[in-house]
Amino acid sequence: MKVIGVGDVERNAGGQLRVEVGDTVTPLARDRARELNVTFVAAPAAGGRPDYIGTPAAAFEEAVPTAPNDPPAGSLYRRGAPVVSASTDPQSVGPGPRPGGRVAVVGAGHVGVTTAMRLAECDLFGEIVMIDPVAGLAEGLALDLTHSSSLQRFGTALAGSSDPAEAAGADYAVVTAGRPRQPGMSRSDLLRVNAEIISAVSADIRAHSPDATVLVVTNPLDEMTALAQRETGFPPERVVGMAGVLDAARFCALVALAAGGRAEDVSALALGSHGAEMVIPLSQARVAGQPITSVLDGATLAQITERARNSGAEVVGLLQKGSAYYAPAASVAKMVLAMAQGSDEVLGACVQADGSYGISGTYLGLPVRLGAGGVAEVVNLDLTGPELAELRVAAERIEERFSTLAGG
Ligand code: LAC
Repeated sequence: MKVIGVGDVERNAGGQLRVEVGDTVTPLARDRARELNVTFVAAPAAGGRPDYIGTPAAAFEEAVPTAPNDPPAGSLYRRGAPVVSASTDPQSVGPGPRPGGRVAVVGAGHVGVTTAMRLAECDLFGEIVMIDPVAGLAEGLALDLTHSSSLQRFGTALAGSSDPAEAAGADYAVVTAGRPRQPGMSRSDLLRVNAEIISAVSADIRAHSPDATVLVVTNPLDEMTALAQRETGFPPERVVGMAGVLDAARFCALVALAAGGRAEDVSALALGSHGAEMVIPLSQARVAGQPITSVLDGATLAQITERARNSGAEVVGLLQKGSAYYAPAASVAKMVLAMAQGSDEVLGACVQADGSYGISGTYLGLPVRLGAGGVAEVVNLDLTGPELAELRVAAERIEERFSTLAGG
């Protein structure tokens, strides 16, 4: 057992430092490690659980077991510092890179806190910091989640604050702040009120986390994502919106309900806008590898598509207060993980069109691959003529709405 200080870190600038069970890394050393790009490597255990020593924010990291049945080892490491450890799959063990990093979740409402919970339970990130202007809210929820860490078996540190500076240096900034819909409201009804919030949040992110990849969740999604890009001034690939993953997941769930079977055996994309101009290209949808049109008839598919398009409103109508959060948060978590792990999967995401599909400049839902820097690639799919036409209409409508916001 040893104490790792600033000197140890400085002697290993740009390299790796081995941390063993029971070791303590001082807070100053953790900060210095981030500046000097030092990676803490969790060493294999001789056996037994580690002692927990350090600050409440220090995280406990499971290391590579020496044999499949060995109990996990642990060590303390700098919150947010990249950690090389067991696996990119939290359920598995074995060699391979494991991302650390700091995630800021702006807005500790239902979507924000459920996102923080799902990401913490993946046990992949160094720290998740929730920010909310309501005094004590983010801090209290972070503490509540921290109390679940031994039960849910995660080492990700959670923090909360009303001060945006507390999330400084985030690798990912998830923006959930904003008013939710009430029954009878469309997402576009939130355009003005949420634009003010997004402008303020964007300024904070620009000031405190200039290298972050931003994932916007606030509605109206497409317009707020475009606004966040404009107000942060970040390169477009680093500002992405979450909607297509959610809309496609809803479609998959509804198909499974109609056709029987498991939703995960359905694959589909949702593109266009997160709203009336949502495009679910049936040419791309499959059920257990078969074209969806060979499994369900046209009328049923049209009904399911329409219900998926209105699923957010359906939940709002039932709740009577606030909007959906479990499926939205699961969708955000999927996207953040896809970024952190550089997944190869093609996902629908709100991104700035790059000329693909004959659309340029507008933010709308397109098929993409994600990586640590946001959009790795816009994927060109072979859409049918009518699907392509719907996508272009979506781009026009979003552009019209966005242009009504002042300051463009
Ligand atoms: C919904 C919100 C997140 O679709 O837009 O439920």
